[in-house]
Amino acid sequence: MALPKQVKIVEVGPRDGLQNEKEFVPTATKIELINRLSAAGFRNVEAASFVSPKWVPQMADGADVMAGIERRAGTIYSVLTPNLRGFEGALAARADEIVIFGAASEAFSQKNINCSIAESIERFAPVAAAAKEHKLRIRGSVSCALGCPYQGEVPVASVVDVVERFAALGCDEIDIADTIGVGTPKRTREVFEAVTQVFPREHLSGHFHDTYGQALANIYAALLEGVEIFHASVAGLGGCPYAKGATGNVATEDVLYLMNGLGIETGIDLAQVVDIGDFISNAIGRANVSRAGKALLAKARSEANTCV
Ligand code: HMG
Ligand code: MG
Repeated sequence: MALPKQVKIVEVGPRDGLQNEKEFVPTATKIELINRLSAAGFRNVEAASFVSPKWVPQMADGADVMAGIERRAGTIYSVLTPNLRGFEGALAARADEIVIFGAASEAFSQKNINCSIAESIERFAPVAAAAKEHKLRIRGSVSCALGCPYQGEVPVASVVDVVERFAALGCDEIDIADTIGVGTPKRTREVFEAVTQVFPREHLSGHFHDTYGQALANIYAALLEGVEIFHASVAGLGGCPYAKGATGNVATEDVLYLMNGLGIETGIDLAQVVDIGDFISNAIGRANVSRAGKALLAKARSEANTCV
């Protein structure tokens, strides 16, 4: 399939990127991060989670974060909502999109949201109905679509099954998530080939963690399957508290560098994102793991030194 002319990059750093940080990141830092990302041109920022603070303490300030950000017209601010309580928080916070998050692996579903896949769908049904009633967009995220930290191999049929159930709930967009970054391009293509039989290709996204260094290759594989939406995290922040050893999402800077090289429009200014990666890495005292980000920062610094 021909490569798309443009793609949507969903910046998930403020949520997926920060949720695993041990030290509490000040609310003001989270707000500044989101404001800078909005200014860089992202059409979709995953801003917060309305989950149990006992399960993910880092996301406990979601309401304050959402109240403090400057909203850029046309940008979708998404939040995670595991249940109706989370939905009520999202509604009060004026989120544009709610994310229900399930898994293609029973074991991961239990560890992450404390219920079976079937129970999760039952729990999501009233959340999706309420979102429809309030005209909020609904995104469904399918964890462990390319492998599970507890179960290992995950059959493609299990991914298709959850995608079908999410589609029946009325999801506007569905994420195929490689939670622990074990996927490879061949498997990525097989999974997307299968799920595009049951859900429109243009509303599917690729959410790749980069634990095994395969994320960019998997994105390219997904592009070849006609996928037009990708998630990424500035500076490669992140990890999942319920997937031990998994590293962050693919770094946004690296994805933008790839897209720019392929001549695929994103509407996002790479130079600004490189600066944001530097800002948030310094702010939380964490290494910037974006290869492109680090290379471009080093280049800019050496050019600045040559000029003086
Ligand atoms: P539970 O313990 O079975 O549920 O958790 P519960 O109803 O007994 O609630 C436990 C406590 O949390 C209670 O408080 C509730 O009131 C409270 P207590 O009475 O003990 O004081 N509570 C809430 N508080 C605030 N907001 C809420 C909420 N709900 C309950 N919405 C539950 C079930 C789903 C709540 C829990 O398992 C949970 O919050 N899990 C979230 C885990 C999570 O956020 N994981 C990371 C995000 S998913 C991810 O990163 C993957 C993704 O990136 C894709 C990929 O890479 O795979 C999306
Ligand atoms: Mg994730």
